[in-house]
Amino acid sequence: MATLSGETLSERAAVDGRVGASASLTVSRPLDPQRIREDFPILGRPQDGRRLVYLDSAASSQKPIQVLDAMDEYYRTTHANVHRGVYRIAEEATARYEAARARVGRFVHAPEPSREIVFTKNVTEALNLIAYSWGRANLGPGDAVLLTEIEHHANLVPWQILAAERGVELRFIPLGAEGELDLSDLERLVAGVKLVGVTMCSNVLGTLVPMEPIVAAAHAAGAVVVADAAQFAPHLPLDVSALGVDFLGFTGHKMLGPTGIGVLWGRAALLEAMPPFLGGGEMITDVCLDGFTPAELPWKFEAGTPPIAEAIGLAAAVDYLETFGLDAVRAHERALTAYALDRLREDHGSRLRIHGPSDPARRSGVLSMALEGVHPHDVSQVLDQHAVCIRAGHHCAKPLMRLLGVGATARASLYLYNDRDDVDALSAALGDAIRFFA
Ligand code: ALA
Repeated sequence: MATLSGETLSERAAVDGRVGASASLTVSRPLDPQRIREDFPILGRPQDGRRLVYLDSAASSQKPIQVLDAMDEYYRTTHANVHRGVYRIAEEATARYEAARARVGRFVHAPEPSREIVFTKNVTEALNLIAYSWGRANLGPGDAVLLTEIEHHANLVPWQILAAERGVELRFIPLGAEGELDLSDLERLVAGVKLVGVTMCSNVLGTLVPMEPIVAAAHAAGAVVVADAAQFAPHLPLDVSALGVDFLGFTGHKMLGPTGIGVLWGRAALLEAMPPFLGGGEMITDVCLDGFTPAELPWKFEAGTPPIAEAIGLAAAVDYLETFGLDAVRAHERALTAYALDRLREDHGSRLRIHGPSDPARRSGVLSMALEGVHPHDVSQVLDQHAVCIRAGHHCAKPLMRLLGVGATARASLYLYNDRDDVDALSAALGDAIRFFA
């Protein structure tokens, strides 16, 4: 254990407390990204003789050998379908799938990991599950749902579909200064609302949303709270009990795990009262021609053959992240974000604007950039010639793009395997883009 450089314990506690993370003051050893890169085979793949600079982890992270090996070993030694075979490898596969569930549940400090963790296809499916199941059981004409203007489509469109179908009113917490939410009118907005859905971290602005006042206001109004943790869970300690939300979703592929698996955590009492989302497979205890009896939690929500190898891969990703500690991951990314903000400002001045909070304590390592006179797709193409991978586009957050007055941004996003060399390469490549298009 060591003290983090460039960040005092009290600073860290203040910020992490604000965003609802574990209050523990235990601080892990600083990360060594050069060592970590060795675990990621793809990062050793040069592009046109250049070091690959991967800065698109907010879209999808790369995978360490530990995750690849866990999935490969499972397929080579244990694979069979789960919850149905009574032969040895089928029982082993079931045990490994359920152990993965418990591991993921412990990762988010779920009070009942084996009942409250539902595996889905991705965070989009997790949020749709809430809208379809909880939403259709609990919302009707005249009811209201409160979202924010910074949601990505996965926490917006499912509620729009429900609103159109059921006559539900949608309200929005507005975007404020510097990419933060404007909570000044929260009490009025939340009055009479039955559900509040909010991202914990913006995939465009990097904003870390202050969950505490939102959860408090929602619960005081009698609303349940849905947290979209897709951009938070990979990067900061997450404790659903301390956070006080009622549902929370995230996805495996942004946190070193495979694609094809997402996670829904929900309070057991709420999940128990909800009808199934999809039908088929082992989500029943009995079926007759005139009806069915749903299975217990969490299987009631897992129709069809689930993502077995993907769950095992996700558990390996959680193991990998926890060997470093999410507090160390956060400290590394915060320091690197501070470096990037300074470096890009020094190198490019007013020609480059970075959306979102200027204080690294209030944001993640997502850096959405606007380069004067250069279209984000052109920026991305020039950067690709330098083997620098970023995402250019609307980031599945079109309403937010409209509010920012842009059609797209060029977004670089940092993770535990990035270091100052990556930021320097980004800045040099941006310089080239400016020279080329100026
Ligand atoms: N996966 C989307 C992103 O890149 C939403 O932020």
